[in-house]
Amino acid sequence: MAGANAKTWLIVGASRGIGHEFATQLLNRGDKVFVTVRKPGIEHDVAYWTDAKAEPSHFAQKLLKAGIPVGTIVFISSDSGSVSAFREHEDGFAAYGASKAALNVMARHMAAELKRKGSRTTILMLHPGEVRTDMAKIEDLDWEVEGQMEPQESVAACIETVESKGPDDSGTFWTWRNEPYPW
Ligand SMILES: NC(=O)c1ccc[n+]([C@@H]2O[C@H](COP(=O)([O-])OP(=O)(O)OC[C@H]3O[C@@H](n4cnc5c(N)ncnc54)[C@H](OP(=O)(O)O)[C@@H]3O)[C@@H](O)[C@H]2O)c1
Repeated sequence: MAGANAKTWLIVGASRGIGHEFATQLLNRGDKVFVTVRKPGIEHDVAYWTDAKAEPSHFAQKLLKAGIPVGTIVFISSDSGSVSAFREHEDGFAAYGASKAALNVMARHMAAELKRKGSRTTILMLHPGEVRTDMAKIEDLDWEVEGQMEPQESVAACIETVESKGPDDSGTFWTWRNEPYPW
């Protein structure tokens, strides 16, 4: 049950991994959580949508257009999407890195436009670190993923990082350790 000071969150993609861990930790501390999943069956007692077409930027645009106050929108990016800190050893991650670089540029545009139009919504990009999820179980990777951690550790730090930010930080890129990350 959500308490009087509970925050409200929407987690887009909460069936597994980092999204699922966000939902778990936020529910455990008494916040109100909505999630999207592709297939029903998530074990948490939450309201959920199962629109397979829904992806994070689509949801963000819908929320912003709805005219309801939105505090912070966080896009889960990756260090693989950084252009200036290019990770040239990440063979096989070309499309993934390019998609995260595109996500970063999309979010910067979103933040810039919102700021110019006087919005107080904060847009953040977040690299969650190297996290032991299904995504990380790539068998034929011939380079080492260093510093992997459990989703619990990453998400606890991500939540702290997100909650330390406000409108002046909109359009910035952070790691789970609350360090700014280069575009
Ligand atoms: N794990 C890492 O080390 C790491 C590092 C940097 C960034 N990230 C980012 O963190 C985010 C979460 O990754 P994860 O590690 O938690 O991965 P994961 O455990 O593999 O979970 C992936 C999630 O995305 C959903 N999903 C996948 N394709 C989808 C689609 N086409 N439409 C809707 N939902 C879809 C999955 O839903 P289903 O269960 O329905 O398939 C699942 O909920 C990703 O953006 C990833 O790039 C992860």
